Amino acid sequence: MRIEPGVAVQGALAVPGAKSISHRALLLAALAEGRSEIRGFGRSGDTLSTIAALRALGIEAEADGDTARVSGAGLRGLRPPGGPIDCGNAGTLLRLLAGILAGQEGSFELTGDASLRSRPMERIAEPLRLLGAEVETTHGGAPVTIRGGTLHPIRYALPVASAQVKSAVLLAGLYGSSGPTVVVEPTQTRDHTERLLEAAGARVGRRGREISVWPAERLEPLSLDVPGDFSSAVPFLVAATLLSGSVLRIVGVNVNPTRIGLLHVLERMGARISLFNRRSIGGEPGADIEVASAELTATAVSAAEVPLLVDELPLFALAAACARGESVVSGAAELRLKESDRIETITEALRAVGVRASATVDGFRVRGVPARPRGGRVHARGDHRIAMLGAVAGLLSREGVELEDAECVAISFPGFLEVLESVRER
Ligand code: S3P
Repeated sequence: MRIEPGVAVQGALAVPGAKSISHRALLLAALAEGRSEIRGFGRSGDTLSTIAALRALGIEAEADGDTARVSGAGLRGLRPPGGPIDCGNAGTLLRLLAGILAGQEGSFELTGDASLRSRPMERIAEPLRLLGAEVETTHGGAPVTIRGGTLHPIRYALPVASAQVKSAVLLAGLYGSSGPTVVVEPTQTRDHTERLLEAAGARVGRRGREISVWPAERLEPLSLDVPGDFSSAVPFLVAATLLSGSVLRIVGVNVNPTRIGLLHVLERMGARISLFNRRSIGGEPGADIEVASAELTATAVSAAEVPLLVDELPLFALAAACARGESVVSGAAELRLKESDRIETITEALRAVGVRASATVDGFRVRGVPARPRGGRVHARGDHRIAMLGAVAGLLSREGVELEDAECVAISFPGFLEVLESVRER
């Protein structure tokens, strides 16, 4: 697919409902007693994998446009399907569902596509074993087999800052025999699970870096509006910032402080971004975002910031490519374990469009020039966030970008390329 250079981006748009929240809402709805309605559901390749997985487990779940409806079967109502459950490309689904299955009777096998099977699963297997489940991984990855049952509360210090691992342990904690299960985070990660557990009536506490969840007798069904996905808004923020003469408004976006690290980074680089109409959307902070073009200067992103912008680093790299000076990301070794080895795929994509970028062990360096990159041929490598990087690079470039494997954007944002075209100034 070819992305032609653009002049500016203009207008207003909305992005699909947050993927992280949509996965979690579906999973908790399946455990509730009664029917849940999830409006503004972020329908995508990944969240449809969650609906399919729930159906395989005997749950009635459907998505009609951007409304999902789920009939919950109660906390212990998931049934072994008698075959593997396919989680597709979705790490969040596999890891969070593993936490839930640890509390069910029976044996369950979770698998996924080649990318997901290559990702580390011992990080969830270890705490789930400590809780009392039998968990086997395949050379540390998926397929993962889980035999659940009665669990004993634990106190678990996360070896890596991961919201998926934290969430798997908290969800399993719902099935503890007595007393709270406690997770200690090295640095704060997204807290959507904690918020939704509370919305479903579970008891959750936070003190500093410690999050506790108490065993639950039942969960209440959800009636929820999902705010727009900040990660899906970011390509537009970067395009509008870098194409001079642009002004763009993105409405109804989730601005949970654990998600918007990139806003602060772009602001210190000189971006002109403002949040207004702040409101609560589905128990999460929401706002409209307005962005106008600006000239950027380079910055350094370090370990403490990484969990707050981990999925945004591909688009950060592109912003850095057009900022004056050398930008550096360090303490981001987790990038190697995402849908692709993003340290390699980010730097490969930047070099493909004529930018000077190099990989380091735990991050990358980008030599930024405040001018349009040349353009060229970008391969998304099956990674939706690299496809978005490539598409925005095309718009910013002098010669356009030939984007290989563009279809994989549908993992998080099926209409992304069409929405990007719709804000292009003609
Ligand atoms: C997610 C957590 C992050 C993030 C992923 C979604 C979540 O992963 O990269 O895209 O929904 O909890 P880690 O928990 O592995 O950091």
